[in-house]
Amino acid sequence: MLKLPEHYETLEETLEASIKVLENAVENRRSLFHTPVLSTFSDSKINSRVIVLRAFDPEKRILRIHSDSRSRKIKDVSENSDATLLGYDPGLKIQLKLHGSIDTHYQDNIADLAWRDSQEMSKVCYSISESPGKEIDDPGKYDVDSENINIDEGYKNFAVINFHFNSLEFLYLRSSGHRRSIHVWETEELRSNWMVP
Ligand SMILES: Cc1cc2nc3c(=O)[nH]c(=O)nc-3n(C[C@H](O)[C@H](O)[C@H](O)COP(=O)(O)O)c2cc1C
Repeated sequence: MLKLPEHYETLEETLEASIKVLENAVENRRSLFHTPVLSTFSDSKINSRVIVLRAFDPEKRILRIHSDSRSRKIKDVSENSDATLLGYDPGLKIQLKLHGSIDTHYQDNIADLAWRDSQEMSKVCYSISESPGKEIDDPGKYDVDSENINIDEGYKNFAVINFHFNSLEFLYLRSSGHRRSIHVWETEELRSNWMVP
């Protein structure tokens, strides 16, 4: 059960709460932070999509996401690795906005471990014959028949997206007084400040 303060008196409390929210989001499918929005650049245009958080390393400030290696975002981030991750949970009244950069992993140790760690039902979608985003006439032809596929064939289309954040913005909406703070890691040093909500 996620226990968070009713009031935020210190900057440290806002950062600690944010870390707890992200840790909880990995395991808790009902947390709205389990499926935040990841934005990256497609050429000079912003491209946003919902993703699932698979792992979080608070020490290294890395969030792990899984994706199809053929998807547009994988190509895009190889050209511009800048990214933001945004989530809001009305139950918690907290918005988190993270900024950082992405590196991707394909058929290496990190992808290998993540694949082995994934549930069978999550692996199934990587066996689709065509690339995600391809325009097609009949979507019925692309339904995955999980009974008749070799799930491990999908590994060749599996990629890990590691999102490294160096800034975290916290916003808590409360009628008695909103609280907004920014935490920025400059090299390894942390600088934190309150902001006008
Ligand atoms: C609830 C939900 C969870 C999703 N999780 C992921 C995910 O973990 N990884 C992923 O690549 N796409 C995920 N998607 C699909 C993406 O939102 C997006 O449509 C897809 O990745 C193609 O994005 P792209 O064309 O920008 O690469 C999810 C969509 C929804 C609605």
